[in-house]
Amino acid sequence: MTNTKFPQFPEFRPRRLRQNKNIRDLVHESSLNASDLIWPLFICEGKGVKDPITMMPGVFRYSLDVALKEIEAAANLGIKFMALFPCIPNEDKTADCSIAWDPENLANRALKLIKQEIPEVSLILDVALDPYNLHGHDGIVVDDEIVNDLSIDALARQALVHAQCGADILAPSDMMDGRISKIRKTLDANNFSKTMILSYSAKYASAFYEGFRDALGSGQLIIKDKKSYQMDYRNSDEALRMVQRDIHEGADMVMIKPGLVYLDIIQRVKDNFNIPILSYQVSGEYAMIKGAIDSNLLSSDQIIFETLQAFKRAGCCGILTYFAPYVAKSLQG
Ligand code: PBG
Repeated sequence: MTNTKFPQFPEFRPRRLRQNKNIRDLVHESSLNASDLIWPLFICEGKGVKDPITMMPGVFRYSLDVALKEIEAAANLGIKFMALFPCIPNEDKTADCSIAWDPENLANRALKLIKQEIPEVSLILDVALDPYNLHGHDGIVVDDEIVNDLSIDALARQALVHAQCGADILAPSDMMDGRISKIRKTLDANNFSKTMILSYSAKYASAFYEGFRDALGSGQLIIKDKKSYQMDYRNSDEALRMVQRDIHEGADMVMIKPGLVYLDIIQRVKDNFNIPILSYQVSGEYAMIKGAIDSNLLSSDQIIFETLQAFKRAGCCGILTYFAPYVAKSLQG
């Protein structure tokens, strides 16, 4: 690039390539399609439930019967990947998190039902204990400490049962050490060598997760914070070490999270590694954008497309976004 000799104005008129839509569409460098989108959705017990989430206007908890219809509609719009997040009543959560590997828990019932009814969609399941944990943390808490090795044993059990119930992709979001190799080995030893691992490799301790914790009811349970396992947002080199480690441990794909304020990390990972990168436009990012549009502080929904395009431009092959059905619909129209 630096060696290229550019002609100077007036020979060089870059606006020539911007003068109409046809030429702009020909020379564009990145695209955005429904096949790039993964829809994260919250599921809950009950029948006919479509329960609004206060901190995420326009996002709901769906009972499985309603979720089936929503997923089918999204699939018809071209969204082929859904990430399911179970909302377990707080009174059912325990310190040992054992519901996490119950084959009849909400997530596993959802997996079986959706795979049976809508086999063309692929299902992603977070591997982390927070939906089941009395303490709201992603790992097991003993005496106020999130205990690493105990947690990865539990996570591997959870992962295997999700795989047995039909999960296509397991997405460890817990940030414990050693979990990717533990989960990979457990899957392989049980004939699930085809089950993919999308590692949340660089997951930052972020203030952008509030809406999600509101959805799960885990927010008020968390003692202290998640800073002893999620990454410090002052760091960037560390993200490269995490990605390198997870590739080495058997991750098929890596995730950077949150998204928009971590595009620098996405770009660095893209420049340094050869592995599919995904990112998560998390609940707080969604809430900011949706809030601005709903209150007319921004008059157009174009900001949604612009932010998603930024993920693609930075190097992501896919994006988890609560806007997925909305965007897929707009792309069709
Ligand atoms: C938990 C998990 C979180 C999110 C995805 N998985 C929250 C957290 O780490 O506390 C956040 C997603 C979002 O904010 O939309 N394992």
